[in-house]
Amino acid sequence: MYDRVFSGKFLFHGSFQDLDIGVENGIITGIKKHINEEKKILKNGIIPAGTDTHVHFRDPGETDKEDFSTGTISAIFGGTTTVFDMPNNRRKIDNYAAYSDKLEIVRRKAFCDFGLYSMFTGTNGDIISKESSGIKVYMGETTNTGGMNNYSEDAVRTISEMGIPVVFHAEDGSCLKKHGGRARNLKEYSSIRPMECEEIAIERANNMKLSRGVITHMTHDYGTPYIKEVTPHHLLLNYDMPLGPYGKVNPPLRSRETQEDLIAKLVNGTFNIISSDHAPHVQNDKTDFEYSKAGIIGVETRIPLMLALVQKKLLSFDTFYKTCILNPAQLFNLRKGEIKIGNYADFMSVDFSSMEKINDYRLHSKNPGSPFNGFDAIFPSDVIMRGETVIEGKELIGDKMGKYIRELK
Ligand code: DOR
Ligand code: ZN
Repeated sequence: MYDRVFSGKFLFHGSFQDLDIGVENGIITGIKKHINEEKKILKNGIIPAGTDTHVHFRDPGETDKEDFSTGTISAIFGGTTTVFDMPNNRRKIDNYAAYSDKLEIVRRKAFCDFGLYSMFTGTNGDIISKESSGIKVYMGETTNTGGMNNYSEDAVRTISEMGIPVVFHAEDGSCLKKHGGRARNLKEYSSIRPMECEEIAIERANNMKLSRGVITHMTHDYGTPYIKEVTPHHLLLNYDMPLGPYGKVNPPLRSRETQEDLIAKLVNGTFNIISSDHAPHVQNDKTDFEYSKAGIIGVETRIPLMLALVQKKLLSFDTFYKTCILNPAQLFNLRKGEIKIGNYADFMSVDFSSMEKINDYRLHSKNPGSPFNGFDAIFPSDVIMRGETVIEGKELIGDKMGKYIRELK
């Protein structure tokens, strides 16, 4: 007897197959043609749910922007059942105490599973929580952080030896200072945080020779031995679009040519991971362009936007699946991202004919303003997390059952 059996067309070994999936304690324990027990029938194609390795849910400290409940609810509406939250809270997560205080606050609010990053500031390797799911290195200044201008080789060795992913925000601090100035529109904003600053930072990150590194939100295919991550906004938006403050982000949106090259490289298989870099701000922070804060929301639209590209045959299903679902789960050694025995029963059913236009006021973020308003997207109709249905017929039925990933292994 299983706790639960799901029946439908599951993505299994690279193709959609009619299967019955038996679940015990949230884990897939049976994959068969027929299981002779009561079952829940899922319609459409069923694919593993996604992992978003880069979100800013602002909790604690700036819960007027987002909190861990609204952020994780948005995630599951978009087919994501695991998120990794960044450490640039108002109180930086750069030591043991800050990490465990944050964990105790957010764990009671989570609708989906989560991990947390600690921040490496250059010298604090020895006081970073060893429990951290990952480490974030801000090489230059951005929201709530001054960046890392000096670092000690010893401290870098400490973080490398922790054996967890190290994610670089690669914009070089001194380069940003050199180019800084006023920016009244997206194009000027790109020129005061130019691509050259990304290139310099990536070179420095490469020279740290970490065992496992990720360059996040690349706006161009720079050379690096590390994992290459891109975002939906750098893939689909550019500075000539009339997006105003809602298109302001670090690193900035680039030219149309650079953007089109980025998506062509994604299609060619150059990039390993697509993350959202979900970074909400209150409406008042997004009024006058020059004084607006940088950040674009995206945890709910990441998978739906990419599914629309797949349906339009602009992106292969395989590349979508690897960059949004499989590789992000594997980066953190999660038992997720694939339908197989021993993995958590996290999946979603997707009706590929249900293309719709994004209406940002229907998104579930506390501050839903999105530059993707009006873009085509395919949202999952049902989402199952560890065997529990959390979204049914595009409605939320789940509760605060999100777990810290350390407690999942
Ligand atoms: O645009 C951005 N917003 N880039 C970052 O690196 C941080 C983020 C935020 O936290 O607002
Ligand atoms: Zn970010």
